[in-house]
Amino acid sequence: MSLAIGPLDGVEEAAPALSSAFRDDGHPPSQWRRHLLADLEARRIDPDASKVARLDGVVVGVAIARWVDDAGERIGHLGSTGVRPAFARRGIGRALVQAALGALDTLGCSRITLEVAAENSAARALYESVGFETRRELLVWSLTGRSGAPAGRRAAPVEVLLARPETRPAFQRRSAYLRTFGDLDGWICPSAGPPRAGLLRRGEALFDLWTHDPELSRHDVPPGRLTLLHEPAEETNPVHLALTRLGAEVTGRFLELERRARGVSERPSEYRGAAITGSVPK
Ligand SMILES: CC(C)(COP(=O)(O)OP(=O)(O)OC[C@H]1O[C@@H](n2cnc3c(N)ncnc32)[C@H](O)[C@@H]1OP(=O)(O)O)[C@@H](O)C(=O)NCCC(=O)NCCS
Repeated sequence: MSLAIGPLDGVEEAAPALSSAFRDDGHPPSQWRRHLLADLEARRIDPDASKVARLDGVVVGVAIARWVDDAGERIGHLGSTGVRPAFARRGIGRALVQAALGALDTLGCSRITLEVAAENSAARALYESVGFETRRELLVWSLTGRSGAPAGRRAAPVEVLLARPETRPAFQRRSAYLRTFGDLDGWICPSAGPPRAGLLRRGEALFDLWTHDPELSRHDVPPGRLTLLHEPAEETNPVHLALTRLGAEVTGRFLELERRARGVSERPSEYRGAAITGSVPK
């Protein structure tokens, strides 16, 4: 079997491979397909820097890459990297990541970031082996809103984004980036007076919340279980206090990893495909 690493030239094969690799998340291929297409259309994914691994022409692994120009610096970001479980531990993940890093380096990224679940020791070992270091810890908060309409005023997401103070450095949580999502819901709370709190929701993920308002009640939270992704764990982060007052709980920990351009501790990529037998799933 021969391994070929190339650009992300379509989502039809990438989506099932990602669904298989991230089987614990339970997202079907259709959901991956939808998100990949939306991300490609909004240019949140660079299809050339992103990579797919093909074994005898069939996609067995994917690495998603993106970059933004931010305050005079180009920052790369590795999103989902996944290899079909049947083909794990053969060097495909490292080959994918190295190919994506090479592309981001060539594009002039001065640093490359990613977020990984703290307990994902396999992925952490992979990223550390190609030069990533832990930069900080991120908390995953979950929040169950009461049923019923939110008491606050519903606002266009862009309005919420513009009202939000820029307190967080990670580009994927900044207004300019979030603004590229067309399917966010936005609320400004409370309903009277100047906006003191905002919520941004996409499906069941709470993308963004900012508030310094201890009075913000759970009535202001949209109904259903929401997950606020990856809030920096620093004790000084005011969002933690607000979330605690809202009755939110920490349900997971992620790490933000960073690799300066052309990490020095990279191992050469090697494919140990000789061990693979059997047919590749379509
Ligand atoms: C993480 C993942 C992409 C690795 O892909 P892979 O093709 O199996 O990785 P490789 O064979 O290239 O291994 C590279 C290194 O990763 C580490 N690694 C990979 N799988 C591991 C495991 N099960 N246990 C411990 N370390 C592991 C090792 O350091 C390995 O180097 P080594 O083989 O020289 O010891 C794959 O396990 C996967 O798809 N996981 C589910 C999705 C996921 O969690 N993605 C990361 C999200 S940020």
